[in-house]
Amino acid sequence: MSNLTPASPLRDWLADPAAGQVLRGMLAQGGQSEQALAPALGLPLEQLVKMSGGKFPPELVDALVTAAETGRVPEGLPTAPPPADTATAEPDLGVEIGAAEPWSEQITPGRFDGQTVVVTGAASGIGRAVASRIVREGGRVIAVDVSGDGLAALAADLGAAVVPVTADITAPASADAVLAAAGGRVDALANVAGVMDDDAAVHEVDDKIWDRVMRINVDGPMRLMRAVVPGMLAAGGGRIVNIVSEAALRGSAAGAAYTTSKHALVGLTKSSAYQYAGTGVQVNAVAPGAVATGIQVPAAAPFGSSRTARMRVAIPGLAMAEELAASIAFLLSKDAVNLNGVILPSDGGWSVA
Ligand SMILES: NC(=O)c1ccc[n+]([C@@H]2O[C@H](COP(=O)([O-])OP(=O)(O)OC[C@H]3O[C@@H](n4cnc5c(N)ncnc54)[C@H](O)[C@@H]3O)[C@@H](O)[C@H]2O)c1
Repeated sequence: MSNLTPASPLRDWLADPAAGQVLRGMLAQGGQSEQALAPALGLPLEQLVKMSGGKFPPELVDALVTAAETGRVPEGLPTAPPPADTATAEPDLGVEIGAAEPWSEQITPGRFDGQTVVVTGAASGIGRAVASRIVREGGRVIAVDVSGDGLAALAADLGAAVVPVTADITAPASADAVLAAAGGRVDALANVAGVMDDDAAVHEVDDKIWDRVMRINVDGPMRLMRAVVPGMLAAGGGRIVNIVSEAALRGSAAGAAYTTSKHALVGLTKSSAYQYAGTGVQVNAVAPGAVATGIQVPAAAPFGSSRTARMRVAIPGLAMAEELAASIAFLLSKDAVNLNGVILPSDGGWSVA
């Protein structure tokens, strides 16, 4: 009898003799290898299904469960053997290393009671996880995104504490729409909405991608900060958290446009933290490593992506959006007292490598 469930990590599924063969077969069919999945090995299988955009259908999960339970590969499914080198014994490290303890959200009831928090990018990924956590901790969320359908789904899940604002943060009127929806004090702002570039090195930069990345990743957050800060100053305080990236800390994590945009957002964070120090307005940033979300990546530029690919093998692991929400909600909460101008890497230690 197998103990594997859709919540079990990919690593355990690959280790199962029958289910592992099927999973490898599916990967091979999609032109992927087990090695390419290395950063995702700690993620639950169900997360892979969510991220795959339909390429990994829920029926396949049922087939994997059957394979693990019966020890046999169901008919008609592709299979592939484990790579030869996994048979090599681990060297003796002189210390026993157990499986990493699984993590689940620890909600702090009432942490955001009576507070209004603006969250951009709330229809998907990290923004959705932040919005969800704040509502479950008592707050009201002004949820901003270009995706009206995604916001409707969020509101259907979380109820009246979500006030959806369907808006493009690059449109000047969007900041007014956010203030109108808040209808009073904004206690905190999480600038989460952002887009990736195509990994292009500077000689490959496409003007359209550059402009879009700068407008969404830099101009949009600045406009919302500009809109909420006067109210925060008048109220004697408020907390702003800008979501940057590993690409805000190093040159090797993305292309020229995304790296420049996230470095710029660090500059805006630090400048604002300095300018408002002592007023009660705190401005911090969180720099996520790799996170399992639906973030779209444009077709890769050949030169730049061949360079960034060399670094990506060093990513310690993919995090779930809820893990980022834990770091971001902390900085949005009053527990962030005395923190101002912090750029907090939430990346499993990637930034110290
Ligand atoms: N996923 C990662 O690995 C990763 C790593 C480092 C940093 N980040 C950063 O985290 C943030 C969230 O990323 P995610 O992975 O959750 O992405 P995601 O694509 O899942 O979510 C981003 C959301 O932002 C919205 N959005 C995009 N442009 C917008 C606009 N102009 N106006 C309003 N909404 C807009 C999208 O509709 C989407 O719902 C981004 O700033 C991203 O740069 C992500």
